[in-house]
Amino acid sequence: MSAVRTPQKHFAPLAIGAPEPYRALPVRLERMIHFVPPHNEKIRSKIKDIAADVDVVLGNLEDAIPVGDKEAARRGFIQMALENDFGQTGLWTRINCLNSPWMLDDVTEIVREAGNKVDVIMLPKVEGPWDIHYLDQLLAQLEARHKVTRPILIHAILETAEGVKNVEAIAAASPRMHGMSLGPADLAASRGMKTTRVGGGHPDYTVLADADGDVAAARARYQQDLWHYTVGRMVDACLSYGLKPFYGPFGDFSDGPACEAQFRNSFIQGCLGAWTLHPSQIAIAKRVFSPDEKEVAFARRILEAMPDGTGAVMIDGKMQDDATWKQAKVIVDLARLVAT
Ligand code: GLV
Ligand code: MG
Repeated sequence: MSAVRTPQKHFAPLAIGAPEPYRALPVRLERMIHFVPPHNEKIRSKIKDIAADVDVVLGNLEDAIPVGDKEAARRGFIQMALENDFGQTGLWTRINCLNSPWMLDDVTEIVREAGNKVDVIMLPKVEGPWDIHYLDQLLAQLEARHKVTRPILIHAILETAEGVKNVEAIAAASPRMHGMSLGPADLAASRGMKTTRVGGGHPDYTVLADADGDVAAARARYQQDLWHYTVGRMVDACLSYGLKPFYGPFGDFSDGPACEAQFRNSFIQGCLGAWTLHPSQIAIAKRVFSPDEKEVAFARRILEAMPDGTGAVMIDGKMQDDATWKQAKVIVDLARLVAT
């Protein structure tokens, strides 16, 4: 049996007959991809409780796993996959990158022993469609050999300058593509950015308030979002191929509000979830990637005021038309999915 090669459906149409570009409702909630180190026995023993609280559990085999623990992490992930029923919670793994000494064993052992349990393989440091083609074919061979009944999907991390350059081609590379995540730490290194952090802003990446002629005056500094450009490119590439875009990690676990602000920027821009590396970030992601009640209430008023989605109406002094109806539908449908 070879892998099924039909396009995956990660989005449902907004309405019967809605044109293709308006497919912004995910069919599955993946608000947080929660990273766990699978070589850690204590974490493995608590995995059922962790899984009950998140949309996706990801066994991390790549960065943050010491070289000496690579094998143990892979074996721990397989054990975790075989010993637990994850129910509605997604089970993903982040394998090591293609040119590492561990990647081939990661894929062959995981598909051989737990191929029917794994939903998505996250591939780091993707530079172009050729990386996706390689993993796609390798998965097809292994799935056929080990009688895996459901194709394992691929999620690319966008974390090199070359990857960003090729983002559209990566999105188009295979019907196996699930989505993409921004990897701000590796991307910062690859671009030669002058930072030492995992995601978030930087106190020196600012603009100054206007001087209004008085250049000596103390002027407010406004911090800018370092990731705006890349998230925008990723969202456009993903949505034009029916894939799901995600913000990645936020490394300062002590700064919940900053994590929340970064996640929220990405949600407003179109992302559907983010990585959670620490338990404290789970509630943040749940809150951010579930639409706000006030937004939902306003969106419902738009839908009610325009039952067939056409025309123009004024609500609270603001013009609404076919285009805002579609925006409102995204929010209301997502709220409905969260409620189920
Ligand atoms: C994630 O892998 C990152 O590099 O930010
Ligand atoms: Mg990385």
